[in-house]
Amino acid sequence: MTVPGDKSISHRALLLGAVSSGTVKVTGFLRSADTLATLAAIRALGVVVEDHGEILTVQGRGWDGLAEPEDVIDVANAGTLIRLLPGLVAPLPFLTILTGDASIRQRPMARIVGPLAAMGATVTARAGDTLPPIALRGGPLMGIVHHMPVASAQVKSCVLLAGLRASGETAVVEPGASRDHTERLLRYGGARVEREGLEDGAGTVRVWPVERLTFTEIAVPGDFSSAAFFLVAALLVDGSEVTVANAGLNPSRTALLQVLRDMGAQLTVQPDEAGGPEPVGRITARTSSLMAVDLDPRLVPNLIDELPLFLLAAAKARGVSRLRGAAELRAKESDRLSAMAQVLRALGARVEELPDGMEIEGRPNGWLGGSVSVFGDHRIAMVGAVAGLASQEGVTIDDADCIGVSYPGFSEAVASLGGAAILSEGAR
Ligand code: S3P
Repeated sequence: MTVPGDKSISHRALLLGAVSSGTVKVTGFLRSADTLATLAAIRALGVVVEDHGEILTVQGRGWDGLAEPEDVIDVANAGTLIRLLPGLVAPLPFLTILTGDASIRQRPMARIVGPLAAMGATVTARAGDTLPPIALRGGPLMGIVHHMPVASAQVKSCVLLAGLRASGETAVVEPGASRDHTERLLRYGGARVEREGLEDGAGTVRVWPVERLTFTEIAVPGDFSSAAFFLVAALLVDGSEVTVANAGLNPSRTALLQVLRDMGAQLTVQPDEAGGPEPVGRITARTSSLMAVDLDPRLVPNLIDELPLFLLAAAKARGVSRLRGAAELRAKESDRLSAMAQVLRALGARVEELPDGMEIEGRPNGWLGGSVSVFGDHRIAMVGAVAGLASQEGVTIDDADCIGVSYPGFSEAVASLGGAAILSEGAR
């Protein structure tokens, strides 16, 4: 099978395409609610985009060609958009106001308001500059050294994007290695970006101002985070083998594979020949009996979006698994620690929810089934579906429409692998 384009890279391809010099062809674009919000946002900034489905042609205008949006920008559910776009427009002297759905309006914004203000932008947000809506009037920026208390690719990217038009050097110090798609694309477009520190640990990323960025084509690989649902399903469902082709294999995203292997998973990876800025390849997973593991907290930023799947796999492993150092999961599309504790309890697993993680006693014989709430969170809904595939009687999830945030076509993909899904219209 293949999976739709990577969400993180699709957002970045459009945002960087918007400020690049000349036309950028984006292939493999993810058409999901989140990334279509980014398409609408760059159009609101005056960028012309020809839409051919998975291929988009972005007529880049450079920073100076962007126009003040006439209205508030609605990011819908997209955390990446509301964190990255302010960094992109921070050097521009116009007003940008961003808001989103009920979940977005509860997500922390001080983490970008602080560094952008320190660079010289006028920026404010609801609830004492902590929550969306966020309003920004840009202007001349100075480079800063920003120490992130929590590793976040969204915050890092916001500051790096602003740094592209700031005076001097801009540095972001990260306590752990977060995904590096922004850095790779910036280098691909001609910017100077350097990282110093441990490849899989703390480090400092530096960026220098650029006159222009130029891309001819940006090829978006299949989303590893979407592939992960089917890889874990294959491990958990008896008699399965699933191969995902053209899957993104960026090492800052694939720690789930290492963790699952430590649990005894049969996984093979076959990289394709190197091409664009991102490595891709085929990943195969076969049914495996899993053993419990203590997840190394240093890996957390690398598999932040796959942690709900790890917790599900742990609930079928022999022994007690532990996750610590993952308080950040409470600040995602939902409180994913509390949501997953509820999912796993509904399946009959014994779990202890901790402030920054969970202890899970696995049930190697599997689950009967059950009903779960997904709190409008696409990834919790898909984890619920994987749990259903691996259960005896199925799992009912209370909202399948939210899956469209990152993976329209998920139910067809489940069906194509032999699963039976009854989903509401919006998720199809
Ligand atoms: C993302 C980064 C991650 C991830 C999110 C997408 C990105 O968040 O959870 O789904 O595209 O930069 P943080 O690294 O900011 O925690």
